[in-house]
Amino acid sequence: MAVDIAVIPVAGRGTRLLPVAKSQPKEMLPVGRKPVVQYVVEELARCGVGRVLFVTGPGKTAIENHFDTDAELIAHLRETGKEDLLEELAYEWANIEYYYTRQRQQLGLGHAVLCAQGVVGQQPFVVALGDSIIGLHAQSRVVRLMVDQFEETGADAVIALEEVPAEEVVRYGIAVPRGGAAQVFELADIIEKPAVGEVDSTLAVAARYVFSPRIFDCLHQTKPGKNGEIQLTDAIRMLVQQGRKVLGVRLAEGQTRFDIGNFQSYFEAFVDFALADPHCGEALREHLCHRLETTDQG
Ligand code: G1P
Repeated sequence: MAVDIAVIPVAGRGTRLLPVAKSQPKEMLPVGRKPVVQYVVEELARCGVGRVLFVTGPGKTAIENHFDTDAELIAHLRETGKEDLLEELAYEWANIEYYYTRQRQQLGLGHAVLCAQGVVGQQPFVVALGDSIIGLHAQSRVVRLMVDQFEETGADAVIALEEVPAEEVVRYGIAVPRGGAAQVFELADIIEKPAVGEVDSTLAVAARYVFSPRIFDCLHQTKPGKNGEIQLTDAIRMLVQQGRKVLGVRLAEGQTRFDIGNFQSYFEAFVDFALADPHCGEALREHLCHRLETTDQG
C-alpha cells in the first residue's frame, strides 16, 4: 500500500522555548520567511505525501489558521493593488488535505502518535516531528528514500538517523546498528535518551519515521518511560525485540537537521536560513561580518 499520509505531532508545550512559545506554538516560530511547520509540510509534499494529520493540543489553533485559505486577506491584497504578494500565499493551494485531531492529555510523543490511530487506521504512515526542518529550505528527500526502503523491504519501521557528538546522546533516541552502519541498515536496538557511555552508538533519531500500523499495537502496550512519558522510541524497541524488521537511514552527507526545540539550535537555524535568503542574505552576511569584526576589535 502506498504511503501518502503523514502525522505531525504538534501538541508539545515547548517549555524549552519559554517565554516565546507561551502563547504561540513553537511550530509557528519564523525561520527566515516561513514558520517551521510550513517547511515540514513542504518537505513532505515534495516526498509524495498527500494527506497531513496534525496531532494538536491547547494553544495550537494558529497552525490550523496558517494552513487555511484566508479569503479576506486575498481580497484585501487584490483591492489594495498588492497582487504580487499573493504568491506568498501559494502554499495554501498546495495539493494537500489537512486533518486535525487532539491529544487531550500530554502523555508523551508515543501517546501523541497513538492519537492518530483513529484516522490512520490500517495504513502505513510517516511521522514528522513539527519542530525539525531537514536540510536548508527543507530540500531533503530523506522521507522519499525511507518510504522506498519501507515498500521494498517490508520493514515495520524506517527511521532517519544522524551522527551526534557523544555528549549529546542524552537528548535523543539512539539507534544501535546490527553489524556495520551503512547508509541503510537494520537496527539491533534503540534507546530513548541514554546516559553518556550507556550505548556504543552516536546515531540519533532525526525526527522522521515511517511505520506500518503494527506500531500502534506496540504503543498500546508501552508503559511510561523517560520523564514518565509514553515514548515512541520504546514502542520501536518493542518492534525490534519482537524480531520485526526496523531499518535506519542516515541523513545524506552535508544534510543538516534544524532543531527548533531549543534556543541555541533555533538561533542557528534562523541565521542559516536568513543568510540563504535570496533578497536579504547578502546584506545580512555583510552586516554579520561587520558586527564580528567590530566585536573582535572591541
Ligand atoms: C524526540 C524523540 C527522540 C528524538 C528527538 C529528535 O525527543 O523522543 O527520540 O531523537 O525527538 O527527533 P524530544 O526532542 O521531543 O525530547
